[in-house]
Amino acid sequence: MLLEELDSIAQKITISRKEICVRCCMASGCMSSRSAEIKDAMQHAVTSKNLGDRVEVRRVGCMGFCGQGPMVSVEPDGLLYEHVTVENAPSIIDALDGGTAQAELGDAKQPFFSRQLMVVRANNGRIDPESIEGYIEANGYRTLHQVLHEMQPAHVIEAIVKSGLRGRGGAGYPTGLKWGTVAKSAGAHKFVICNGDEGDPGAYMDRSVLESDPHRVIEGMAIAGYAVGADQAFIYVRAEYPLAVSRLQTAIRQARQHGLLGTGVFESPFNFNVEVRIGAGAFVCGEETALMASIEGNRGQPHPRPPFPAERGLWGFPTLINNVETFANVVPILEHGPDWYASLGTEKSKGTKVFSLTGKIRNSGLIEVPMGITIREIVEEMGGGAPGNAKVKAIQTGGPSGGCIPAEHFDTPVDYESLVGLGSIMGSGGLVVMDEHTNMVDVARFYMQFCMEESCGKCIPCRAGTVQMYELLTKIVERRGAQKDLEQLEELCDLVKHTSLCGLGQTAPNPVLSTLRYFRNEYLELLNKEVQEFGSSGVQEQET
Ligand SMILES: Cc1cc2nc3c(=O)[nH]c(=O)nc-3n(C[C@H](O)[C@H](O)[C@H](O)COP(=O)(O)O)c2cc1C
Ligand code: SF4
Repeated sequence: MLLEELDSIAQKITISRKEICVRCCMASGCMSSRSAEIKDAMQHAVTSKNLGDRVEVRRVGCMGFCGQGPMVSVEPDGLLYEHVTVENAPSIIDALDGGTAQAELGDAKQPFFSRQLMVVRANNGRIDPESIEGYIEANGYRTLHQVLHEMQPAHVIEAIVKSGLRGRGGAGYPTGLKWGTVAKSAGAHKFVICNGDEGDPGAYMDRSVLESDPHRVIEGMAIAGYAVGADQAFIYVRAEYPLAVSRLQTAIRQARQHGLLGTGVFESPFNFNVEVRIGAGAFVCGEETALMASIEGNRGQPHPRPPFPAERGLWGFPTLINNVETFANVVPILEHGPDWYASLGTEKSKGTKVFSLTGKIRNSGLIEVPMGITIREIVEEMGGGAPGNAKVKAIQTGGPSGGCIPAEHFDTPVDYESLVGLGSIMGSGGLVVMDEHTNMVDVARFYMQFCMEESCGKCIPCRAGTVQMYELLTKIVERRGAQKDLEQLEELCDLVKHTSLCGLGQTAPNPVLSTLRYFRNEYLELLNKEVQEFGSSGVQEQET
């Protein structure tokens, strides 16, 4: 493939475009509410009204407002329709012809979009994720061409360092620094891995990016491969994401057919292959050393670091491992320049972050916001607060490794350091809202149950400690706990945090610690006072 061919593909598809484009979300959320049939119903209406010359009905990826799905948008008018059904879908086409459409999105819901800044999700909900031509029309693969023909690998790494991009998989490690380490590590082979395991309950940002714009991730990975000197890459995706897997496979096949992957990419000396590896859905397999063990065909269990993957990773070779969203940031950084990217966000947290906003919230779905936006702006303005006029009590960030932040801290800006300061973490982007009716001890127990079930069992503190912490939390939730159970719970949190082998165990106590920090009264209210008085371990014992 040469640049001229890229131009010709883009031109051809642009010329074939119609005056009006009706976009139908065909990502997992809307597809589970029959959006494939909705698209067919609209296409049928276009044909029967003889509008085929003016109107294109296009399959697109996630528009973000998943709680209101199935979603349909109409361009160039910028109309949005919510809760579209197979029955009312033809009215959207009628409206193009002077009729009245049902299901238009109300003004009250507009703030969900108005504070967003689309960098990672710029193509989502706009292009057909199964069409490489659509991606090329949206400037796709031009950055890879420019990088291969105009930049040295070291300059690419310099640009990523300058942008300030930090890993979006949870820990926020500086991406450019990691790329530099892999580039410097000696090895006969080097690998790139895209971590699409995404196991946090309620989080689906990476699934949405993979389902909506798979070429963007592949292009980012190829640029990373060139920068660090790797020629083989894997995208690790869980089996619960079949649509993401199939769209990735389609995208890889198309890129190979066009000479954008394989031997001599863009007729340069750079060779790069990408394969999908499907995980079985174990949360621990998102941890980088467990993930690599799983790709190697071994049991998905973590091992101690060092050595870090950047020095000795897959099959002992230097390996670059980054999250889906991290790779999806690479093309815009190089396309618009690292200075532009570094101008977004805060001093230490640059760019945007994609979050899945779920729980007790009116407007739920995926949002992409500049770093530094406050929690209050997200929850109250974009999310519209809790349904039924209930008061929002807290927000959980960072999944099972994160913590619960109470409403009095909602003016805190969303950035890596501020969230850690509050006892939580940015994590990969799950935001779960809790209202005044939520019992916070029960929330802590939910996350502990998750960690207990997902613990791989390799080390004792995590294997036994999560079970014991879960049992103590259950005792407290069921009003059978005494003061000494609370003390034991706190001791265990400390022990498991400091002695577990990997991040799963090390962070499993966080939801307990943060709820103890901000909602201790809820624990105390649940303690059984009689049990305390008699110094007994439970009601049952005391009664006998
Ligand atoms: C238990 C556990 C689960 C993890 N799950 C994921 C995951 O699903 N996706 C992800 O990108 N990183 C996950 N991570 C973090 C990875 O180990 C690794 O830091 C990350 O993929 C690096 O990419 P980044 O620098 O782009 O964030 C997990 C870590 C732990 C400890
Ligand atoms: S901390 Fe838990 S998940 Fe991690 S290695 Fe130990 S037992 Fe396995």
